[in-house]
Order: sequence, then C-alpha cells, then structure tokens
Amino acid sequence: MTDVDVRRVTVLGAGNMGHGIAEVAAVAGYDVVMRDVEEELVSEGYESIEWSLEKLAEKGRLDESVADVLARVDTAVELESAVADADLVIEAAPERMDLKKEIFAELDEHAPENAVLASNTSSLSIMEIASATSRPESVVGMHFFNPPVKMALVEVIYGAETTEETAEAAYGFVESLDKTPIYVRKDVSGFVVNTVLGPYIAEPAWMVSEGEATVREADAAMVHRRGYPMGPFELSDLTGIDVTHHVREEAGRPIPPVMAEKVENGDLGRKTGRGHYDYESGAGADYT
Ligand code: 3HC
Repeated sequence: MTDVDVRRVTVLGAGNMGHGIAEVAAVAGYDVVMRDVEEELVSEGYESIEWSLEKLAEKGRLDESVADVLARVDTAVELESAVADADLVIEAAPERMDLKKEIFAELDEHAPENAVLASNTSSLSIMEIASATSRPESVVGMHFFNPPVKMALVEVIYGAETTEETAEAAYGFVESLDKTPIYVRKDVSGFVVNTVLGPYIAEPAWMVSEGEATVREADAAMVHRRGYPMGPFELSDLTGIDVTHHVREEAGRPIPPVMAEKVENGDLGRKTGRGHYDYESGAGADYT
C-alpha cells in the first residue's frame, strides 16, 4: 500500500448504509460505483439516493443539480469489474464475518494493488476481515453512521496491520466528504461509538423487558430531558434492531428479551415497517 490519490470509489452494498455512503461520496465529487448482488437491490439503493438528493436540493443543500450528482453514480452487480479501477473500496455488506471475508478475498484478487480496502463494519474485527487478504496493511475500518448523509462523524479504525498511509488516506477521504473523522487505534468490538451507545440502547431495553417502563416513556425521557434527537428505541428502529442485537452478541453482552423477541419475529425497525414502533400504519415513533 502506497500513497493513494482517491478519485474513484466503489461501495459494495446498496442497503441503508451502502447507498448513503455512495451518495455522500458522489456529492463530494467522487466517481462512484455502487454494487450489490442483485439488480433489484441496486435499483432500490439508487432510488433511495435519488430521494435523498431531491430532499437535499429542496432545502438548498446541494451545490449542483440532482442529475449532476447522479451522473457520477454508476451501478453494478458484478464485483470484478466494479472494483477494477477503484482507488478506494468501501464494503457495506451485512454484518457476517464469513461474508465479509469472502468479499475481501475477492477484493484481494480484483482490486488495484494500491487501493485502500475499507469496511463499514459496526463491530467486527478489522484484523480478522483483513486476514482474508494478502494485503492486510491496506485494510482499514471506515465506520459511517445512519443516515450517512446527515451524520457528521466517521470512525477510522486501525486493524493490527493497517499502515499509517492507509489510515491517513481513509481519514483524508472522510475529511473531503466534509465529515469529521476520528481514529480508533484499537480494533475493539464496537469501536468507540457503539461501545458508548451500547448502554444507551440496552439499559432501557432491560427496563421495558422487566415491565419497569414503556418504550414511549423511555424515548420521551431521553428526548425531552436530555435533548437527544431520538430516544433509544426509535434509534434502534432506525439503525435496525438486528444490528444492535449483533453488536451486543459480538461484544459478548447479554441480549435484553425485548430485543431478542423483535429479532425473532423479524420486526427489525423501519426497514421492515415495524420494530419497537409501527411504521407501516404511518403512526411511527410519536412520543411527544
Ligand atoms: N436524506 C435526505 N433527507 C433526509 C434523510 C436522508 N437520508 N433522512 C431524513 N431526511 C429528511 C426528512 O425526510 C425530513 O424532511 P422533511 O422535513 O421534508 O420531512 C428532514 O430530513 C428532517 O428529518 P427529521 O425531521 O426526521 O429530523 P432531523 O433532521 O431533525 O434529524 C436525524 C433526523 C438526523 C436522523 C436525527 O433524528 C438524528 O440525528 N437521529 C439520531 C441518528 C443517530 O444517532 N444515528 C447513529 C446511529 S448508530 C449507527 O448508525 C452505528 C451502527 O453501527 C449501528
């Protein structure tokens, strides 16, 4: 891994995080390829970018037209050609180590020699992901938050073998998105933000599981007393209850029953239309 001048970015995954990351990179002027494993997933991701860009344009927060930004977003299903010219690849696939390793092994085969290979994992070990490649020095964590277009912070995580050059290239890229990077120098499960966020999400989930508070009461308490933009349950619905569940599992922490039940029933939050709140009926998270 050497000095990289990042111009072309490939994002692997067109889900909530993937399309959001592709969008912020395109807004910042990068040529982006957004790849997912099926046409339908890619189209959904592309439509979400369009929706989000329209919103930004309505509010005067785009310096150019929606069409101009979209012109920089290419889509793909095949991985090999999608990464062939990339200076930076950001993987935003589901949070399964076996899957991430498979993807990084493919990246190792097809990405240019001096590309930076980043993972948007929220809790998996960067070192272990990097071990699927013959170039762990070029692998780094680049952890965005949901929704990427609105969240200013990005964690840049060192794996055990990540070089300064790789980490600095990732850091510089994040700055160029007009976001605030922070280095996480220890590859600990959950990194900094999800470790801090853990009790914020889990403690009220234990209270609700024990019948000591309702979802609405806990959310209202945090929003109206602490001034947080969302209560812990609404936030969990936004990020995906399965994601929160997974972060705790990875950290070896016990799972509050209310969280386990939602995952078991497939009520994962906004993305499935139902989580701690019901979004299908349009009711949403109203705790005013
Ligand atoms: N693109 C463009 N516009 C968007 C958008 C997007 N992706 N998402 C929402 N908007 C729009 C809304 O449609 C709305 O538009 P409207 O006024 O025309 O209806 C407008 O932005 C305002 O949205 P809201 O009124 O819902 O609320 P705010 O703008 O005040 O804030 C928020 C929205 C930024 C999501 C805020 O609620 C927030 O900061 N919530 C906390 C999010 C958070 O903490 N995320 C991190 C989670 S942890 C994580 O991701 C880590 C992972 O590893 C688990």
